[in-house]
Amino acid sequence: MKAIILKEYGLPNVLEIGEAAKPIPNDKEVLVRIHSTSINDWDWGLVRGKPFVIRLFFGLKKPKITIPGVDISGKIEAVGSDVSSFKIGDEIYCDLSESGCGGFAEYVCVPEKTLSKKPPNISFNEASALPHAAILALQGLVDMGKVKSGQHILINGAGGGVGTLAIQLLKSYEVKVTGVDSEEKLDLMTSLGYDSVMDYKKVDFTDNGEKYDLVLETKSNRSVFKYARSLKKNGRYITVGGSLNRLLEIFLLGSLISLFSSKKLSVLGLKPNKGLDHISKLVESGQIRPVIDGPYGFDEIPDLIQYFGEGKHSGKIVVEIEKC
Ligand SMILES: NC(=O)c1ccc[n+]([C@@H]2O[C@H](COP(=O)([O-])OP(=O)(O)OC[C@H]3O[C@@H](n4cnc5c(N)ncnc54)[C@H](OP(=O)(O)O)[C@@H]3O)[C@@H](O)[C@H]2O)c1
Repeated sequence: MKAIILKEYGLPNVLEIGEAAKPIPNDKEVLVRIHSTSINDWDWGLVRGKPFVIRLFFGLKKPKITIPGVDISGKIEAVGSDVSSFKIGDEIYCDLSESGCGGFAEYVCVPEKTLSKKPPNISFNEASALPHAAILALQGLVDMGKVKSGQHILINGAGGGVGTLAIQLLKSYEVKVTGVDSEEKLDLMTSLGYDSVMDYKKVDFTDNGEKYDLVLETKSNRSVFKYARSLKKNGRYITVGGSLNRLLEIFLLGSLISLFSSKKLSVLGLKPNKGLDHISKLVESGQIRPVIDGPYGFDEIPDLIQYFGEGKHSGKIVVEIEKC
């Protein structure tokens, strides 16, 4: 089968477009013919082996994962003997980040527990844009953020994969939502329903006098004290990503601030696929539809990871591997 192969860390041009053996599922797995995949910060980090902490988990000198790619949608082509909830022909989608990656290929074997049925009212391309980003938004806003109607919420990185889904998740709450991102994405953000938008290159949301009940952050790059100042009494700041130093600071000092004040500042650790069936229901009811950049072709994946890293995309970059 064709696959994008990672043999050494480096810029995305180290990736080879090559051939790999078609995998064979064990008793608890299914074989998926992948229709579509999408690009994530995870891929950008894994391919470069940066930040360094990635190498502690995925290989110090050489990556242990040889085929990257975490978000997929596709059709089941074979099932292991212990698989009971899925059958050949089922259309599925999922996040492979806890099951060895492998999404940048024609086929992958996936444990049954990792899978969700693809909502029938969206395309494979749209479905592949959802698992990683929608679950970050859901776990950030609902599980950790405890969002409630009447709140004023700010989303930093509002025009990216997480932010474009987060605003749609908030449609079932009566909340006021401010979105922050670069100037080119502000029109898209307004069209998705953000009540007000800000260009992060012109306005510092931690320093403009506004305070929020809940901040969902994708790019932590300021001091934890600035974030704490941007919260109202009982406010919550939940970050899903940012610079490693800032995340460590928020993890350590955020817990202290949370002990001595009514404000809570926390770092979210993604639980892949937890809540994906709930996302499926929101998609089926029409509440959520991913914003996609693409679809692009398989051979473009190395360039697209670079394009992602340069932050030129809006919403999720999607690749159609092969129609199935
Ligand atoms: N916590 C976990 O377990 C976990 C797991 C997986 C991923 N993650 C993290 O989750 C995040 C995923 O975000 P995503 O998929 O939405 O990424 P994305 O698609 O790259 O979106 C991020 C957006 O933020 C904007 N941005 C860049 N710098 C900014 C700044 N200083 N202030 C405000 N906005 C800024 C970018 O715009 P421009 O580029 O145009 O500036 C982009 O539109 C990543 O940080 C990733 O590392 C966390």
